Amino acid sequence: MNSAREASIPEDKFRQLSQFIYKQTGILMPDSKRAMLTARIQKRLRVVGLDSFTDYVDWILNPREAGGELTHFIDIVTTNKTDFFREPQHFEYLSTQVLPAYTQDNPSKAFKIWSAACSSGEEPYTMSIVLNEFQAKNQGFSFQILATDLSTRVLKSGKNGVYAMDKVAPIPMPLKKKYLLKHKDSSKKVAKMGPELRKTIRFQQLNFMDNDYGVREKMDVIFCRNAIIYFDRPTTEQIVNKFARYLAPNGFLFIGHSETLNNLKVPFKPVAPTIYQKTS
Ligand SMILES: C[S@@+](CC[C@H](N)C(=O)[O-])C[C@H]1O[C@@H](n2cnc3c(N)ncnc32)[C@H](O)[C@@H]1O
Repeated sequence: MNSAREASIPEDKFRQLSQFIYKQTGILMPDSKRAMLTARIQKRLRVVGLDSFTDYVDWILNPREAGGELTHFIDIVTTNKTDFFREPQHFEYLSTQVLPAYTQDNPSKAFKIWSAACSSGEEPYTMSIVLNEFQAKNQGFSFQILATDLSTRVLKSGKNGVYAMDKVAPIPMPLKKKYLLKHKDSSKKVAKMGPELRKTIRFQQLNFMDNDYGVREKMDVIFCRNAIIYFDRPTTEQIVNKFARYLAPNGFLFIGHSETLNNLKVPFKPVAPTIYQKTS
């Protein structure tokens, strides 16, 4: 054990760790993120009973030793900020453009949508609300939602489907009443996603760096929002090309408001701001 107390991750250890993170997850960890990562690892040191950053980094970098700690480490490396109805123009485009065209061309085929990088579930539950609403007005329409993320901690929250009342605030009141359940104990300020939503979503762990995503059915729409922002261009290009393989012909890819596919060699054309359609 390194006995001298360290104030932060030593520079050489940070460099090793950042290379490791890049290889495992694609996430860039430049020096400007050192303070953030130090703070996150500091909390973990307390939990695991270590007092040296060097010992922790050496532990993580040793695949035989790291074991289950690697899962916790991945959890602290990822940034999981998300919201219900985040970037609402995407859901508007889905229900006014994508879905009417889809039902016209495919009157009896289940619509398949994938929330890739779903974080704690707010995005796939929003999809489910929007798709349930569309279904109510369009007899015969059916759908399935796949929700994936790298972090097991956020996937657990998604599967759980219980959110603090302030988190569900962006959901319009009539939809809250229709699809959410209040806790029996009113002192608990939480809401649970109702069965009409829960039964439509399959949560699954997936790392964009894997060669095979294990997605066997062609998707009609993929949302990968606010995730490629953490990757460099070659990694983004690889991932987006993989998405193309999992999309049905003319399928759509939605990305985050500060992201772009400009100048990437990928088979997509822009159809609206941050919305792309597969070209071949
Ligand atoms: C900021 S959240 C975006 C959540 C949601 N899509 C939204 O826009 O609100 C980014 C998510 O990307 C996930 N992520 C990061 N690297 C990943 C990887 N290599 N494979 C899969 N998911 C990854 C993180 O775990 C995190 O939950």
